[in-house]
Formats: sequence, structure tokens, C-alpha cells
Amino acid sequence: MTGSSETVERAVQSFRLAYAEEPEIIVHAPGRVNLIGEHTDYNDGFVLPCAINYGTAVVLSGDSSPEIRAVASDCDGDTDRFEANGPFETQQAEWKNHVRAAVASIAERGEELAGARIAIAGNVPQGAGLSSSASLGVALAKVLAYQNGINDLDGSALALSAQRAENAYVGTACGIMDQLVSARGKSGHALLIDCRSLEVRPVAMPSTLAILVVHSGISRSLVDSAFNERRAQCREAAEALGVAALRDATLDMLGAAENRMSAEAFRRARHVISENERTLAAAEALAADDRQQLSWLMRESHRSMRDDFEITLPTIDHLVELADDYIAGDGGARMTGGGFGGCIVALVAVDRVDGLVEHIRTEFDPPDGEPLRLFRCQPSDGVRILD
Ligand code: GLA
Repeated sequence: MTGSSETVERAVQSFRLAYAEEPEIIVHAPGRVNLIGEHTDYNDGFVLPCAINYGTAVVLSGDSSPEIRAVASDCDGDTDRFEANGPFETQQAEWKNHVRAAVASIAERGEELAGARIAIAGNVPQGAGLSSSASLGVALAKVLAYQNGINDLDGSALALSAQRAENAYVGTACGIMDQLVSARGKSGHALLIDCRSLEVRPVAMPSTLAILVVHSGISRSLVDSAFNERRAQCREAAEALGVAALRDATLDMLGAAENRMSAEAFRRARHVISENERTLAAAEALAADDRQQLSWLMRESHRSMRDDFEITLPTIDHLVELADDYIAGDGGARMTGGGFGGCIVALVAVDRVDGLVEHIRTEFDPPDGEPLRLFRCQPSDGVRILD
């Protein structure tokens, strides 16, 4: 339970304060950092994320009334109250939509859900591209399934339920990566995920390689519209290529079909197709601790996100360059997550992490005027019920 005790403690405190009793069930689900494979998940492709030691705790007790009550420790103890089996109604506060969506998604299975009292606390930075929402969604899916005796949901099914909550109720068109790694993460490992079959291959992180995540000082914004636009362009390219998804296309096929699609769709597809190849190669390179190769793949991934998928920002390009210059082939750096702000991820030799931190501190001023935010991430286990 790496890094989870502080959030669990806060969730339990909130629970006691709100309901004057002890919770019966405690669940923790991690956020994630994606090492490589960006915007490939909804194209049925490959991703290589790992679950991290920052996450969300949800604690719960059953209630004899058919009502769900919830309190959010991170939103000044804001509370919500709704019918467990009532229709989904959109709320102003985003956290409430996530709770109600998780309930609605589990309820779609057709079982009558019991009432509950819930408290929530998390330490995944929000708007950073580290999947705070997915960790909340997966923790909720797990705790609700457990409370209601729904025992046939394995990690992938939990992830699909949490993704459905986002897609159908919250209204975010996300792929499956974030939820799947939050549900199935493995301590000490990244996961190579085939987003079509949901097959997962754990890849051991070399013990001499550290993961450093650095916030750009730009919160992710306007993300939904840009995300939907990218999805539509990928679909346009797949249709022009006559394939079910870009996963099924090669760069040769794309070259031959260039005049059948818009220039934008062509560039988006070139990113996705080449990113799938890089992700498979990066899994091999990581397993072999081939840092030169990792470094090249991460640099190319960033270049492709910048020039072809057009989801980076100049500040982020600059930050990646700073990190990459310091790392000098002994690791790698790129933007991580959906884009338009958020974090970069650096893989760096354990004994050079402090030097990299120092280098970034000296050379980089976050544009929001806040102190530099750095996260040393440990590859962690997926969602867990805790004693
Ligand atoms: C967001 C989405 C994911 C994935 C990434 C980009 O995090 O939630 O499903 O598409 O962007 O790789």
C-alpha cells in the first residue's frame, strides 16, 4: 500500500466526522503515469503506463435507507446525497458527477444497489494528466461492487465499468488506459496493454531507473473539445484506410492513402501508427534496460505529439528538452497524458535523479508562478481493498 496511508487516513477522518462511526470497507486506487503510447488507446493500440504511489481512497459503510451519501475531503468536506437506484442527474460539482456516474454504471448491471455512506480523499494532483478521475472511478467501482456482493468483476471489468461511467454519464470520451492500469497495476512494473484485447504484460522497471514526473505549471484545459476533435480525426483516417481502427494500419498503407484524407487526419494517423510501433519497442527496451533506445523512442514520441498530433505546448517542449539534455541518452523524457498542459515524465538513472531535479530547478520557472512541482513515482499495485 505504497503512499496510500495518508489518503486512507484522511478519508477515514472525513468519514468519522460526517457520520460519527467507522467505515466498513476501505479501498485505494492509484493514479498513473504513461511512459509511452499516447492517444493510442482509443485507436485499439498499445500503451505502456504504470500505476503510481499517488491515488484515491474511498471508504464506505452500508446504509439501510436506499440512499447514497458522500463527503469529499478534498473539496472542503462538500457533501452529496442521492437515490442509489435513481436516474443520473448532472451536478455542478465535478466530483459529485463522478460518484453518481460510478453508481449509475454499476447499477446498469440490473441489480438493486444498497444505500451507502461514503467518504473520499486523494492525493493525485488534479489537472496534471496523472488520472485523478480514473483513480476515483476505479476505487468507486471496486467499493460499490464489493459492498453489493458483485463478485464477478475482475480488474478489466472494473476498468470497463469505470470507463463507461466517464463516457456515458460524466461525458468524457476517454479510452481505457487510465482505468485499466489503475485497476490492474503491478508494483515494480509498467504494463504493456493491448487496448483491443485488454491483454496486459507486466514489464519490470529496472531497479536502477527512476521515474520523475514534473508539472509544467500549466493546468490542462479545453481538453475535452480538443480530445473529441482528435478522436474524430483518427476515425476519419481509419475510415479512409478501410480499417476498423488505426491499430490495423501501417505507415505504408497510410502513405498510399494520403490523398483520401485531410492533411490533419493524415498527420494524426501518422502519430498513432508510429506511436504503436514505438510503444512495442519501448516495452522491449525497458525490459532490456536499453536506455539509449528508450531515450530515442521517448524523444520521437514527443516530437510526434508536438508536430503530428499537435497536443504539446511550447513550455512543455522546453521542459522536455531541458530534461532530455541532462539525461543525455541515459533514460528519456516526453510529455505524458492527454496533452495541452500537465506533466512531463522522465526516466533517469537513480543516482542522477537529484542532479536532474537540480538542473530543472535552476533552468525552469513554472509559468503559473507556483513553486516547481515534482513527483518521484514508484510503479505501484492497482486497486486494493485494505484491512
Ligand atoms: C487521457 C485519456 C486516455 C488516453 C490519454 C492519451 O488520459 O483518458 O484514455 O487517451 O488521454 O493517451
